[in-house]
Amino acid sequence: MSLLTLQAPAKINLTLDILSARPDGYHEMEMVMQSVSLADRIRLDWGFPGGIRAESGLRFLPNDKGNLAVAAALAFRRATGQDWRDLRISIDKAIPVCAGTAGGSSDAAAVLRGLNWLTGAGLSPMELARIGEEVGSDVPYCVLGTTALAKGRGEQLTPLPSLPPCWIVLCKPHFSISTPALFREWDRKKKHLRPDTKGVLAALDQGDLIGVARRVFNVFEAVLPPHQRRVIEGIKNAMIQAGALGSAMSGSGPTVFGLFDREDLAQQAVQTLSETQEEVFLTRPLAEPPAPAAEPAE
Ligand code: C5P
Repeated sequence: MSLLTLQAPAKINLTLDILSARPDGYHEMEMVMQSVSLADRIRLDWGFPGGIRAESGLRFLPNDKGNLAVAAALAFRRATGQDWRDLRISIDKAIPVCAGTAGGSSDAAAVLRGLNWLTGAGLSPMELARIGEEVGSDVPYCVLGTTALAKGRGEQLTPLPSLPPCWIVLCKPHFSISTPALFREWDRKKKHLRPDTKGVLAALDQGDLIGVARRVFNVFEAVLPPHQRRVIEGIKNAMIQAGALGSAMSGSGPTVFGLFDREDLAQQAVQTLSETQEEVFLTRPLAEPPAPAAEPAE
């Protein structure tokens, strides 16, 4: 039996744009992605009897292949033609669940990186990302992490210069949003306001935090039901009032992020938001890709 622990970092979308609906039911995307220091901790017990299963202590998270972490282990075993049977995946959740911050996708990506190390398969990050495609659209990005442009379904990735050092406040309001339902709303309503993705790429090239922050934008915000949109707008306003350089919803929501160039202002924002919201976090951007595998656990 072998043990391994890994970090599975959350992500935010600095921009999220939908270019078109595709005949296969997915959408062509253009997104600037950023991983952050808030992370789940994944422990892999490879060879622990009982088949492939996940444990999180959270009743609403599935333990079987309905959990992306288990789906990733099955996809890895299939893709590599390996025939081992037993893996216990223990998930210590820090990333909010169903929140637009890729918690499940990042757990899946960590499992792929971990199994690559434990089984000695020796796949490259790009090969692992390709296995991740069948698990979920955000998984390939989560395998590579840091700052990247994601296109296609989300699997066509171009590394970008790092977001300049800053503080990122995350705030998840107390409701969940169905990703497929939000895509259907976008199909119905198709709003015309779009992010200035080119401007964000240029600002990243120049190391211009303010230039990035004033262009953060998510096309999903415009098609939210009015009561949810009001909550999101309220949190964004609170971030800006507290001194954020920019604020937007991440992914299909409902987590809102704010970018700050001063730690004291970010901490103040956390304090203010915590008066009305339960899930508020102070994070930093990650400039290094997640380590392929941490040191083996004790
Ligand atoms: O790939 P994933 O399982 O994360 O996607 C969840 C759902 O989100 C898909 O079934 C699809 O309805 C929608 N989706 C989409 N276009 C994408 C990614 C996701 O329409 N690029």
